[in-house]
Amino acid sequence: MTETALTVHQTARPYGFPTPDHFAFVESAPPVPAPGTALVENLYWSVDPYHREMMDGDFALNAPLEGRTIGRVVESRDPALAEGEIVLHRKGWRTHSVVAPDEVRRLPRFDGVPLSAYLGILGGTGLTAYVGLTRIAQLREGQDLFVSAAAGGVGTATGRLARLMGAGRLVGSAGSAAKAAYLTEHVGYDEVFDHHAAPAADLLAKAAPDGIDLYVDNVGGEQLEAAISALRERGRIVRIGTIAQYNATGAPYALRNLPDIVEKSLRMEGFLVRDYPHLQEELYEFVVPHLQSGRVRLDETVTEGFDRIVDAFLGMLLGENRGKTIVHAPTN
Ligand SMILES: NC(=O)c1ccc[n+]([C@@H]2O[C@H](COP(=O)([O-])OP(=O)(O)OC[C@H]3O[C@@H](n4cnc5c(N)ncnc54)[C@H](OP(=O)(O)O)[C@@H]3O)[C@@H](O)[C@H]2O)c1
Repeated sequence: MTETALTVHQTARPYGFPTPDHFAFVESAPPVPAPGTALVENLYWSVDPYHREMMDGDFALNAPLEGRTIGRVVESRDPALAEGEIVLHRKGWRTHSVVAPDEVRRLPRFDGVPLSAYLGILGGTGLTAYVGLTRIAQLREGQDLFVSAAAGGVGTATGRLARLMGAGRLVGSAGSAAKAAYLTEHVGYDEVFDHHAAPAADLLAKAAPDGIDLYVDNVGGEQLEAAISALRERGRIVRIGTIAQYNATGAPYALRNLPDIVEKSLRMEGFLVRDYPHLQEELYEFVVPHLQSGRVRLDETVTEGFDRIVDAFLGMLLGENRGKTIVHAPTN
């Protein structure tokens, strides 16, 4: 076990985009587990857009941050946690965490499936895509979809799952031509536009000239407005996130076509993945065979080294990631 523990604190509230100055790495001795707990040395960290939302007020300043993490139990003072066991927990953004048995989830190990997958397509990210498609959109075979932030964690998982579920035409938006090419060549999208290139309404109208049945919205704002215009009658909007707004300092984008929701009998519904833990096993059953056969591959951007976790997080907000953003402890 390493001699020193590192913990990331948020030190100030950002206005607009956060910078490395809003964080501090705090060094200490590894914590000592009390009876009924265990010490976990963390191996993989998830950094997520919701952390940006939490930075505005939910995260206490100068206190350890939190986040989903996979680690190995290295010292246990509870029989329910065996040394050597691999667990998933939420006390991330630190190299070492003290956890109680009810704070961890044991991970099933599937042959040939790497641990990082449990933070990506098999984790909260994949579950978000799965719930969005199966429970909220209620995707049926042949339906045409538009997915925003299609090259991110949720967007790539949505594309891959929608293909497995027999979706029709899959249109996406992403932040660069290189991302667009990746999505059409590897993930299964039919057409992807760079959302910086022109107004979203023009780009979507060109990419989906016959309209769409479903919109999976990771972004909000202008792209949501474009999707409302492109949706066919009785179409559905799955509201997953509003990343266009998380770092914005001006007034939120005002949608100008809300009457279309009435006139086309559209349905818009949001959800939080934390309300769907009961679908975790169903997700494994659906996806794991395809991971094992190679039909589904992992879309992830892995940054090596806990000392780069802030860079990975800020890079994700700026769109530098492709697929799920993950940080890995290089020695493990
Ligand atoms: N409802 C839930 O329970 C739930 C669960 C997980 C995630 N989410 C939401 O799902 C969305 C995606 O999350 P994720 O973890 O998969 O992150 P992600 O998509 O992997 O990373 C964020 C991406 O957002 C794009 N982006 C950043 N600023 C943007 C802007 N102003 N306009 C358009 N796109 C922008 C960037 O891609 P480009 O380079 O392509 O612009 C960036 O790569 C987020 O809104 C998140 O809050 C919701």
